[in-house]
Amino acid sequence: MEKCIIVAIADNNAIGKDNALLWHISEDLKFFKRTTMGCPVIMGRKTFESIGRPLPKRLNIVVSRGGFNAPEGVEVTSSLEEAYTLAERRHPSVMPASPSAASGYPSTMPGPSDIMSLSPAITLSEAGTSPAPCAFVIGGGQIYAQAMSMADRLIVTHVHTFIEDADTFFPTIDPAVWKVVDRSETLHDEESGYDFEFVEYRRF
Ligand SMILES: NC(=O)c1ccc[n+]([C@@H]2O[C@H](COP(=O)([O-])OP(=O)(O)OC[C@H]3O[C@@H](n4cnc5c(N)ncnc54)[C@H](OP(=O)(O)O)[C@@H]3O)[C@@H](O)[C@H]2O)c1
Repeated sequence: MEKCIIVAIADNNAIGKDNALLWHISEDLKFFKRTTMGCPVIMGRKTFESIGRPLPKRLNIVVSRGGFNAPEGVEVTSSLEEAYTLAERRHPSVMPASPSAASGYPSTMPGPSDIMSLSPAITLSEAGTSPAPCAFVIGGGQIYAQAMSMADRLIVTHVHTFIEDADTFFPTIDPAVWKVVDRSETLHDEESGYDFEFVEYRRF
């Protein structure tokens, strides 16, 4: 199973403030849902608390050093490595044909999402190949920082703004390590006024 990171980043690498997101871009939320649907999602305890509920039809794994009282439908691990192991073990490809409802997966898996289609307007970088199943790290800052060295792929929404007073940042995406394999056209969000684009990176 591939290890993927999905994140929305401002041009100064800001991703959050006061345990909340920095913007509401409905196209990005739809993209996130479409991309992660049916896949394991791994997050830090603070991000889980910021979302406030398990994401439906996805195996929700929260990383915490302890004291986190997991609600129903959420798995807790004490490290990112353990989270990946759990994601791998619980993925339907290694499960019996009828996964239990408690697994967090829908009974019919939609597959590992359509992350190859960043936008209908772009040429697909790997058209014709089946994307591998992904375990998605979905935040926040602490977990992203730890996941970068392990990730195979980054799915990034670049939001073209600077948020100076943010308190959480994404690590620099080193162009010597990551190559762009797909990029959407530049889109515009009326509500926030921001331009944004979806970019997929793969490790060289
Ligand atoms: N822009 C985006 O795409 C995006 C996406 C997601 C989140 N965010 C934002 O990011 C911010 C939250 O990020 P954050 O850095 O404050 O918190 P976080 O990474 O979501 O969670 C941090 C928590 O994860 C646990 N943790 C971290 N490293 C661990 C390890 N090695 N082993 C075990 N547990 C570990 C700890 O939980 P315990 O304290 O329970 O031990 C720690 O307090 C929010 O503002 C959120 O809105 C932005």
